[in-house]
Amino acid sequence: MQTPDTGTRNTSAQDLRDALDAKEFVVHRDAEMLAATVAQRIAALAAQAIAARGAFRIALAGGNTPRRCYELLRDMAVDWQRVHVYYGDERCLPRGDPGRNDSMAQQAWLDHVAVPADNVHAIPAELGAEAAAAEYAKLLEPALPLDIVLLGMGEDGHTASLFPGNPATEQGDAVVAVFDAPKPPPQRVSLGMPTLNAAREKIFLVAGEGKREALGKIARGIALPAARIARAEWHVDGAALPGEIVSGD
Ligand code: 6PG
Repeated sequence: MQTPDTGTRNTSAQDLRDALDAKEFVVHRDAEMLAATVAQRIAALAAQAIAARGAFRIALAGGNTPRRCYELLRDMAVDWQRVHVYYGDERCLPRGDPGRNDSMAQQAWLDHVAVPADNVHAIPAELGAEAAAAEYAKLLEPALPLDIVLLGMGEDGHTASLFPGNPATEQGDAVVAVFDAPKPPPQRVSLGMPTLNAAREKIFLVAGEGKREALGKIARGIALPAARIARAEWHVDGAALPGEIVSGD
């Protein structure tokens, strides 16, 4: 879209959607609306997967953004007995450490619903990145392709634990060991880019002005790791939209 007074081109939400190769790109009024919408999407997709294949297999995102969505899932009408939970990534911390992604998901959601304990598949990141990645790849293989991978995006455009410029991001393995991650802790385990891309549905939850810069870079064609997840469903709040995005168009 041209702006006659300056002649500069505003980056539109459509530009961002195109750069992301997004299947859906939804801008929510605020993080609460984003969380509620995604929780409803997960419940609906779970019902579809269970009806079609007798089970629902989801890999969870870590970080803080998904917490509210997980809390809202507690009260959703889902056949929890048929739900299988995996993780998109895990930090190499002791089992039960509050800094682990599985600790957050258990506290916010899984401790409050009747998903059978045997259906919750934590990444054994306490073993160290290499051993954990090898073990998780064996556990995960029969479950592929996953029905949903939930994903966040870091301020540098990483997703799961696939960081810009990190060798793990370029590896083709189903599960990768991550070293020297810029977001502590440095050692992590992540589903590899091919596994994330192969999921039936990829759903991003991105909120807050801290994500504006990364979305702005992606809108300008910089292929940050989050932008390399094809045909994903993006749920962002208005605060995360880059300043130059003319919202609503
Ligand atoms: C992690 C997550 C990571 C997270 C993003 C966004 O281990 O930190 O897996 O990929 O999703 O960094 O984190 P926030 O939601 O806290 O901004």
